[in-house]
Amino acid sequence: MSSSDSVQEKCLQTYNYLFRPDLLRGKVAFITGGGTGIGFTIAEILMRHQCDTVILSRRLEKLTESAKTLKKNTGRECIPIKMDVRKPQEILAAVDEALATFGKIDFVINNAAGNFLCPASALSFNAFRTVMEIDAQGTFNISKAVYDKCLKKHGGVIVNISATLHYRGSPLQVHAGSAKAAVDAMTKHLAVEWGEDGVRVISVSPGPIADTEGMKRLGGKRAEATGYQRNIPLQRMGRREEIGNTVLFAVSDAASLLTGTVIVADGGAWLSTGGSYASYKQMMGSKL
Ligand code: NAP
Ligand code: COA
Repeated sequence: MSSSDSVQEKCLQTYNYLFRPDLLRGKVAFITGGGTGIGFTIAEILMRHQCDTVILSRRLEKLTESAKTLKKNTGRECIPIKMDVRKPQEILAAVDEALATFGKIDFVINNAAGNFLCPASALSFNAFRTVMEIDAQGTFNISKAVYDKCLKKHGGVIVNISATLHYRGSPLQVHAGSAKAAVDAMTKHLAVEWGEDGVRVISVSPGPIADTEGMKRLGGKRAEATGYQRNIPLQRMGRREEIGNTVLFAVSDAASLLTGTVIVADGGAWLSTGGSYASYKQMMGSKL
């Protein structure tokens, strides 16, 4: 399914608190794709601020192992639930299980996604639909289920993990870029409709983040070898911890006036990187 099958997620060796350690005391977060990569680190950082979490995806074994690691390193509760963001019945059951355990959900982090490099000409109809269904439809499914059962009663924050692919039509990414464009649109639509219930909706858009499945799939090693970082204004890729801290800010009261907006966390990468279709084809060589 994914190369993260064999990688055991580890918590950060050190963490420098930028906010009060009890910032999220009494809060509960529902994090899709929270068993791996960026989602795992988001869970860790929220838990380090005394939030309890529910982490959800398709691989229960992976989630269970990650939940154990997160609990051990943060002292907070974390429950793993198997669920596919494309399957409403599984989602509704997962929300019920989370509510039965914690009594409420304050934050939804729509982080689950699927991606791979593929030129539009080689992309099958089903491949495009699959990524749209996981990233865009999945974000709607989860947001609506948690809103209906919980957020509309007491408010909360929905953070949609997006991307910057669609800002400039990144090559080999029509599927993921179209899906994330829909996610950013959804952030605005839901913010407008659910603001009166005290629900804030924010997109957090990472650029290239080191040590992730996403970067592995998008040619990260090759990009590093060709000096890609030198074109990023901050001269480096992001770290998972930096996306965790951005999400922490987004859910906190420090962001109480932010809704319907996109926070780009990419070191300025989208402004000055991208490359032509020809250069991508050359970089990927026979892999295309
Ligand atoms: P990742 O570790 O592969 O995370 C994706 C997660 O989504 C996995 O835990 C996966 O778990 C889950 N998932 C996939 N399909 C699912 C489905 N149908 N239902 C439920 N869960 C599903 O990749 P990542 O690199 O950390 O990416 C995390 C997020 O950051 C994504 O939204 C991605 O688009 C965004 N992002 C990443 C980068 C980057 O540089 N890495 C850049 C921009 C944006 P299962 O396989 O167990 O289902
Ligand atoms: N290039 C082109 N097409 C691809 C592909 C690739 N690398 N990987 C999958 N596809 C196509 C498949 O061939 C299939 O189309 P088809 O039926 O016309 O042959 C379609 O996509 C669906 O593939 P399938 O494997 O059945 O989907 P899935 O629902 O099991 O998995 C994926 C979804 C494809 C997105 C899978 O890569 C995944 O689970 N990803 C999660 C992890 C991830 O992507 N992390 C990075 C986040 S940025």
